[in-house]
Amino acid sequence: MTAPLYRIPGASVLTADADQSVTDVAASVTEPKTVADVLAQSQVESVMDELDRELVGLVPVKSRIRDIAALLVIDKLRSAHGLNAQNPSLHMCFTGNPGTGKTTVALRMAEILHRLGYIRKGHLVAVTRDDLVGQYIGHTAPKTKEVLKKAMGGVLFIDEAYYLYRPENERDYGQEAIEILLQVMENQRDDLVVILAGYKDRMDTFFQSNPGMSSRIAHHLDFPDYDVGELLSIADKMLTSQQYQFGLGARQAFDDYLNRRLQQPHFANARSVRNALDRARLRQASRLFAERDRVLSKDDLITLQAQDVLGSRLFKAPPAERRSA
Ligand SMILES: Nc1ncnc2c1ncn2[C@@H]1O[C@H](COP(=O)(O)OP(=O)(O)OP(=O)(O)O)[C@@H](O)[C@H]1O
Ligand SMILES: [Mg+2]
Repeated sequence: MTAPLYRIPGASVLTADADQSVTDVAASVTEPKTVADVLAQSQVESVMDELDRELVGLVPVKSRIRDIAALLVIDKLRSAHGLNAQNPSLHMCFTGNPGTGKTTVALRMAEILHRLGYIRKGHLVAVTRDDLVGQYIGHTAPKTKEVLKKAMGGVLFIDEAYYLYRPENERDYGQEAIEILLQVMENQRDDLVVILAGYKDRMDTFFQSNPGMSSRIAHHLDFPDYDVGELLSIADKMLTSQQYQFGLGARQAFDDYLNRRLQQPHFANARSVRNALDRARLRQASRLFAERDRVLSKDDLITLQAQDVLGSRLFKAPPAERRSA
């Protein structure tokens, strides 16, 4: 069950599977007494199982998410006993290279937080610096506030958050956006969860220069690069979900492709897998298109053959040229 993605001007809103009935159930049932009660009422376990099933690898990330969910579940039971139940700070930082699953996991996180009743709506608003910072004096505050308004009740996902801070330009408006964010992260943390995402080294530098931001982030999750085996499994899952399959020798060809692609610049993990499969499908379509009069079977239509993968330019150029391509 992948959540739909739709863009609105200035920011992309990704809705988690905000099932109204879940909210109703959570509101109408009696106080939970056991962990099983909380899990049953919130139906959060199904989201976590889905995360486990649909996402390849990411073992440390998945286990941190289970830890966070456990904390929230216990918190619910504490509050049922009248114990100190101040809303915990849930702002997070997701670091990792491109295509390692940060946006995908953030979407699931929004759903988990929603099901556990920590955010009202469970949607995710994904933004970058340009959505928050204006070009002229007086433009930044309204822009940032507008985005915050859209994100309230959900998750605000700020991609490459470190671009908000540009110390080389002393009159940069990014600082203004940071200050507004800091206030809201502190004062409205029961209604908004902020996730900062980006490369780890740049994020570390950003936190060093912005201790206020650093101190408000409760959870740091690091997304490792995938190895070739994981990338192949990701390819299998992507193909299955699009109703395609590797034909004889095609998976091995894709394995070879990945090993070559990993040596190239701008490798973007699962995103590069997706792009490579898109191109293989294009080659499959051209191959079938050329056979005007043949009756195409279902198998023909769903199968990527080795040649569809081997048609990539990575298999054509000699090694020296390939590096500069
Ligand atoms: N572990 C995984 N298993 C299966 N598919 C994955 C996995 N990680 C990422 N993907 C898929 O790869 C694509 C890219 O993932 P996503 O956009 O979440 O990465 P990202 O870290 O946010 O990348 P970027 O930094 O480029 O924004 C998506 O289509 C996603 O579904
Ligand atoms: Mg992303």
